[in-house]
Amino acid sequence: MKTVVVSAFALLLSQSVALAGDAAAGKTRSATCTGCHGATGNSNVPMYPNLAGQKEAYLVKAIKAYKTGERPDPTMKAMVATLSDADIENLAAYYSAQSCQ
Ligand code: HEC
Repeated sequence: MKTVVVSAFALLLSQSVALAGDAAAGKTRSATCTGCHGATGNSNVPMYPNLAGQKEAYLVKAIKAYKTGERPDPTMKAMVATLSDADIENLAAYYSAQSCQ
């Protein structure tokens, strides 16, 4: 049991340091997101969430959840359908590095 707990913790740790998104590449890939989320992830539309300054790991998780349908939203599912894992990491790195206004 102790081994299971320790290895689960090690897995958590390795996931939290495994984030290596490229923010510059993410900025380029974000062209299709700006209409709703704003150029820097600060949305002007009340119904669209800000992404700027959000935690990187959370953004990765949210985008993947839209892609799989685990988080059901038809609009976002369509938006992220063609993103690769690298695209998702890069987008998350870009938005998390922006300041929320
Ligand atoms: C047509 C408008 C639109 C476009 C374009 C769009 N989104 Fe979204 N996005 C939304 C809406 C609406 C939500 C809230 C959905 C919900 O209720 O879960 C959302 C939610 C999100 C969230 C979750 C935020 C949170 O706080 O949980 C992320 C991350 C996200 N979008 C990333 C992106 C990325 C990356 C792109 C470009 C590839 C993109 N979106 C393009 C409308 C859009």
